Amino acid sequence: MREIETLALAESPREQFNAAGSAAAVMNSTPAAAPADVTAAYYEAYYRGRGADRNSLSNPEVLFQSLAMEASVIRALGSLPIDPADSRLLDVGCGDGANLFQLLRMRFQSDKIVGVDLMPERIAGAQRLHPGVEWRQADARKLPFASQSFDVIFESTMFTTIVDDSTAQAIANEMQRVCRTGGWIVLVDWWMPKPGDTTVKALTRQRLRRLFDLKATLRFDKQFAGALAPPLGRFLSRRCPAAYFAVAAVFPFTVAQGVYLLQKK
Ligand SMILES: C[S@@+](CC[C@H](N)C(=O)[O-])C[C@H]1O[C@@H](n2cnc3c(N)ncnc32)[C@H](O)[C@@H]1O
Repeated sequence: MREIETLALAESPREQFNAAGSAAAVMNSTPAAAPADVTAAYYEAYYRGRGADRNSLSNPEVLFQSLAMEASVIRALGSLPIDPADSRLLDVGCGDGANLFQLLRMRFQSDKIVGVDLMPERIAGAQRLHPGVEWRQADARKLPFASQSFDVIFESTMFTTIVDDSTAQAIANEMQRVCRTGGWIVLVDWWMPKPGDTTVKALTRQRLRRLFDLKATLRFDKQFAGALAPPLGRFLSRRCPAAYFAVAAVFPFTVAQGVYLLQKK
């Protein structure tokens, strides 16, 4: 479910990764050692520790975090000067396909969307829910696609969960390779770092510049603000939802998630 995937990070990263303990650390430090199994262990430990509804939309703490995140994605995709119905889109680290409904609402077509994820059970879940889409179990460090074969490359909350620099770099390189000239890279991720926490790594502007070649290969287009820093966002979502977007507008430094749009030159 989208709420599970995107909002697993919509709280204190330290809290959520403490729930998983060493699993996430192992996933990031030894990417070659059965990463799919370790990732599954992480999620299992996380939800055992935090409760099954921790990131469910029925949890009032989650609703406005989710709406803000969705608004950022809709605004970003809506700003692209393309015809979505005619565009081939790759969702990298697609999980169980939770972003699909939003992509379809934005007029991308199911037969032109491809999702790739490392975890076989996530891909199996996506296939069960959305059999009309091409879901591929693959390591995004080596994408099984020809260069320049997609108009839009999309990722959502994947980079934050990958702290290993060489893994993140290999994935970013592959995203750039399979994007066509003039095509778009859409990065939906957490911007705000958690100082002292080595188990997650936000996609700050600085990290973005390190991972993606924003000089020769790509052009930074725009960014779109989304969810608030989790403790504040969760609090407002539960206690004072009417104030949520006003706080985000008046205090932009409290926004912790958003979307970067890059275009391949
Ligand atoms: C936080 S989840 C986000 C899932 C989905 N994008 C969403 O928004 O619901 C991160 C996903 O990235 C996937 N992932 C991590 N490393 C990967 C890799 N090297 N290749 C492909 N997928 C990977 C994980 O298996 C996981 O499903």
